[in-house]
Amino acid sequence: MGIKKNVAFIGLGTMGYPMAGHLSKSNLFNLKVFNRSPQKAAAWSKDYECEVSSSIKEAVMDADFVVTCTGRDEDMMEIVFAEQGMITHLKKGSIFIDHTTTSYKLAKHLNESLAAKGVSFIDAPVSGGEAGAINGVLSVMAGGSKGVLDASEELINTYSQNVTYMGESGKGQLAKMVNQICIAGLLQGLSEGLLFAEAENLDMNSLLSAISGGAAQSWQMVNRAETMHQREFDFGFAIKWMVKDLGYCIDQSSSNNSNLEFTKEVYDRYVNLMDKGHTYSDTSALMLFNDLNK
Ligand SMILES: NC(=O)c1ccc[n+]([C@@H]2O[C@H](COP(=O)([O-])OP(=O)(O)OC[C@H]3O[C@@H](n4cnc5c(N)ncnc54)[C@H](OP(=O)(O)O)[C@@H]3O)[C@@H](O)[C@H]2O)c1
Repeated sequence: MGIKKNVAFIGLGTMGYPMAGHLSKSNLFNLKVFNRSPQKAAAWSKDYECEVSSSIKEAVMDADFVVTCTGRDEDMMEIVFAEQGMITHLKKGSIFIDHTTTSYKLAKHLNESLAAKGVSFIDAPVSGGEAGAINGVLSVMAGGSKGVLDASEELINTYSQNVTYMGESGKGQLAKMVNQICIAGLLQGLSEGLLFAEAENLDMNSLLSAISGGAAQSWQMVNRAETMHQREFDFGFAIKWMVKDLGYCIDQSSSNNSNLEFTKEVYDRYVNLMDKGHTYSDTSALMLFNDLNK
């Protein structure tokens, strides 16, 4: 076995915490982690034996790979370009993998700015939710250089099941946008279907066993229909994040002239649900829209 490469992992949130955990347990790399709120980093270092850095600079200055999983475009801009950010501390020749769901524009901007510093950038948003991160079975859609992705696969595989190369920089984020557009439509259809079934007093168990193996099947139907019927909405992917992601999709659609009329309607419903206190409910709470707007 050769010399272990140095990895800096930034952002120990819902997703990053278990992802960095898998990386740590793999023992394939020298890992340093950083989290803005030190309490989270302290909790993480109790679960996994690993070095916690006290600043972004300290985490990234020797890193061969920098991995981020944070929040929004603005957060990535701050982490990379702010006064205490990493841009001036990154090692020439290093690889930067961003698992944050961002806009296409941000991915292109990071790619260009980092290339000017001799750092290779991969936009690599993930799908699979908190459970996928905990079980190390995320799906990753990646944009950038294929050679750089190949060099990163051993690392990404520690927390992922599928890594798909989508093409040039930004295409990972475009693939994630398609994922989110499809989920928005699926959840709106599932919400209406379940409300219709309830209005007709159909037996929900019989209904779901009848239709969840057929042409209407979806991950959302298999994993969420029953909990939606029970009005339980605490299962991971928060409306707050969906509003962010659909906002990127709608913005992007104006530059590729695609029509996201239906997605825009679902976006407006989610914004309305946030106004009504459902910021942190999971996305299947879309079902509540009609009741809350009578
Ligand atoms: N949750 C899901 O099911 C899921 C699924 C697929 C994709 N995603 C995407 O993955 C990303 C992370 O999601 P998450 O659920 O893990 O979010 P989260 O729980 O809110 O965690 C975000 C992490 O990023 C850090 N962070 C955010 N802004 C920062 C800033 N300006 N400077 C430094 N650190 C910052 C936070 O640090 P603090 O602890 O200090 O706040 C935290 O560690 C998002 O882009 C989300 O859309 C999430």
